[in-house]
Amino acid sequence: MLEEIRPPRRAVVVGAGLGALATVVAACSTSGTTSEATSKADSSTPAAAGTSGAPGSGALAKTADVPVGSGVIVDEVVITQPTAGVFEGFSSVCSHAGCKVSEITDGKIICPCHGSEFNLDGTVAKGPAKTSLETKAVSVQGDSIVAG
Ligand code: FES
Repeated sequence: MLEEIRPPRRAVVVGAGLGALATVVAACSTSGTTSEATSKADSSTPAAAGTSGAPGSGALAKTADVPVGSGVIVDEVVITQPTAGVFEGFSSVCSHAGCKVSEITDGKIICPCHGSEFNLDGTVAKGPAKTSLETKAVSVQGDSIVAG
């Protein structure tokens, strides 16, 4: 008689689970290599990872990428540098009707929907918006700007 040689169903499920685990471990070891280099600098502050090259994890932008007298829009955050070394953060959601501000031109943060303009300190320069952009806390860590 032929005996059917099949692994028990439970063994197949466990095997599949190990395969997924191996994938996760591989992914972790890859990122571990990256963080290993930065952990020598200071493992307690993840933003310190952004001290070389591109902004590290958690970094919104490099300080050098935010022009003095202007700013940048990074996803939901507007980062401005009204004067050298002073960085401010605001929500990119316009206080008028919720559009996302789209550009910073001539020292003004511009909303494309109805033409509101905001100063680099978030206050209204031109309506129809009546209230300032919501403040978002940002701080400088090394040469990066991080939330908080
Ligand atoms: Fe920005 Fe109206 S939503 S000006």
